Amino acid sequence: MDKKEKIDAIIAKFKGKRGATIPLLQELQEVEGYLERETISYVAAETGIKIADMYGVATFYSMFRLKPQGRHIIKVCKGTACHVSGATAIFHAIQGHLDLTDVEDTTSDGKYTLMEVACLGCCSLAPVMMIDEDTHGKLTPDSVGKILDRYE
Ligand code: FES
Repeated sequence: MDKKEKIDAIIAKFKGKRGATIPLLQELQEVEGYLERETISYVAAETGIKIADMYGVATFYSMFRLKPQGRHIIKVCKGTACHVSGATAIFHAIQGHLDLTDVEDTTSDGKYTLMEVACLGCCSLAPVMMIDEDTHGKLTPDSVGKILDRYE
């Protein structure tokens, strides 16, 4: 199934259903890994959902992305245990290693997307980050670069 067929199938599944905007956007995001502007416009026209409503939902919930994401997703825990163990310094060390600014969350080569998340459920390893499905704990600002360099 190509991209348009997938999108049309999602539209058919949710068209006319009340309160379908969130699950519809979730399924659309799975098609490309983010919500493309053209896709939102197309789906709005086909479903009758207002574009402003779709953008309102897409920008309100952090689970939605309006830009492409990297091949690897880095989730730095900012929960209480990690926060008091230096999560902010870890986050800044990663930004520095990847040459990211505060307004960029994805590296220019598309390798990494960096995000903050709430507790990852392994507080005894604080401070913690996940890269894709891998958990890395007891981090220090000096250790994160070596970990990041292991990923292709
Ligand atoms: S607070 Fe970071 S894993 Fe729980």
